[in-house]
Amino acid sequence: MKKIIIAIDGFSSTGKSTLAKQIAQKLSYVYVDTGAMYRAVTLFAMRNKLISENKFEKEKLINSLNSIELSFKFNEKLGFGEAYLNGENVEKVIRSIEVSNFVSRIAEISEVRRKLVEQQQRMGLEKGIVMDGRDIGTVVFPNAALKLFMNASADTRAKRRFDELSKRGDKVSYQEILENVQLRDHIDSTRDDSPLVKAKDAIEIDNSNLTLEEQFKKVLEIVENKL
Ligand code: C5P
Repeated sequence: MKKIIIAIDGFSSTGKSTLAKQIAQKLSYVYVDTGAMYRAVTLFAMRNKLISENKFEKEKLINSLNSIELSFKFNEKLGFGEAYLNGENVEKVIRSIEVSNFVSRIAEISEVRRKLVEQQQRMGLEKGIVMDGRDIGTVVFPNAALKLFMNASADTRAKRRFDELSKRGDKVSYQEILENVQLRDHIDSTRDDSPLVKAKDAIEIDNSNLTLEEQFKKVLEIVENKL
């Protein structure tokens, strides 16, 4: 069977990664969560005191990009690759609300995007990959064989993210999550470099009223037509 690149873009917390993992598992493809890469750079900036509520040392961050090494290591138990920052497993800590609150400001920086996009393109050289993010079908892989664009109401998305974070024990409020999701969507869609837009040839999926199974079934039919 021929191997293809599947690009999944969309707004925050639309279930992109859940769907991407399902497809990757079904096809034995590699799954890459590019949001994790932007989140890991953000964690690096926070730990090095380059970004906080009232400070943003953008130039210093740009100058230290060479000392940031990102990778994914496949976790057999979980069935997907976990994110590593300079050799440390950061999979859990990068999902915190603190990182979420700064990540879109880091993702606006062209130098950061250039570094991560290059790495993402290298990961896709052999195809057989499902990658999710905001600019995968528009910038990273404009020739991807299949492009999906995910959407859902802001309320549905905030509720999903709230349940996810509460389940793992994070102390967060629904309102805080809703505001974060809306603010990130605004910054991501209006930035100058690689804004979040639906690629012309992307298939849009609104999953506000779809169960995970219904969504997977629907997408699998689309995927199978491309193989
Ligand atoms: O996918 P996730 O919500 O984890 O992404 C976190 C943030 O990383 C997004 O809100 C966006 O600012 C940034 N991002 C991006 N381009 C991507 C993936 C994520 O700008 N390809």
